[in-house]
Amino acid sequence: MNLAQIRAAKAEREPIAVLTAYEAGLARAADAAGVDAFLVGDSLGMVVQGRRDTLAVTVEEVAYHTAMVRRGAPETLVIADMPFLADATPDQALVSAATLMQEGGADMVKLEGGAEKAAVIEALTTAGVPVCGHVGLLPQRVRKLGGYRVQGRGEEDARRILDDARALERAGVDLLVVECVPRELGAAIARAVEVPVIGIGAGVDTDGQVLVMHDMLGLGERPPRFVRDFMKEAGSIPAAFAAYVEAVKARRFPTEDESF
Ligand code: KIV
Repeated sequence: MNLAQIRAAKAEREPIAVLTAYEAGLARAADAAGVDAFLVGDSLGMVVQGRRDTLAVTVEEVAYHTAMVRRGAPETLVIADMPFLADATPDQALVSAATLMQEGGADMVKLEGGAEKAAVIEALTTAGVPVCGHVGLLPQRVRKLGGYRVQGRGEEDARRILDDARALERAGVDLLVVECVPRELGAAIARAVEVPVIGIGAGVDTDGQVLVMHDMLGLGERPPRFVRDFMKEAGSIPAAFAAYVEAVKARRFPTEDESF
């Protein structure tokens, strides 16, 4: 899918299946299985580089992996993550986006944060950079949060995340990732904004799902509750990708047990 098709999918209520990817061979196999878009997440710091969190990942590293995914899936939407502090100011975000799009070949960049990111998003979209927002659990703030925890459980916190989603849409995002929130909040965000909302640990009612590829292939060390190991039953990597796409499209993933 391209961005216009992803937007149309929300309008037509067709669930969108997204996976993270970090290199060409697996991106090619996932692309052949029908994955709609790829995210070159800064999760690469953990699943590829073996670090304890994502904070040390650099723009150059994301661009390097994005270029590989681009080669593996030349026609599919590729979203590249802005690493920690690479989007600290509008000027810095523009320089980072140039590297991710010109060297990496990304179609879009993703950045973590709420209303406080409006100026950065406006600068990027004014310059013609498509932006994906990311609300809910923000892994780049793990030191401040003190761990990877479900967000938006209380009424006030849920309202803040919903307001952030609306603020990001006003600022110009074309897509939104919502991570680790109760199912009801994932559903409320998808209803509240017109842009497609892709959930991870946000219940089945968002407009699409994303999982970290290593997790859904059963390679996660301590997989969180919202992860399903698609390799277990599929038996091969291409079959696991196909099972993931099928489960997302049929809204058979995530189940109630795989949600908060
Ligand atoms: O870095 C990443 O892989 C992500 C997903 C968890 C959404 O941001």
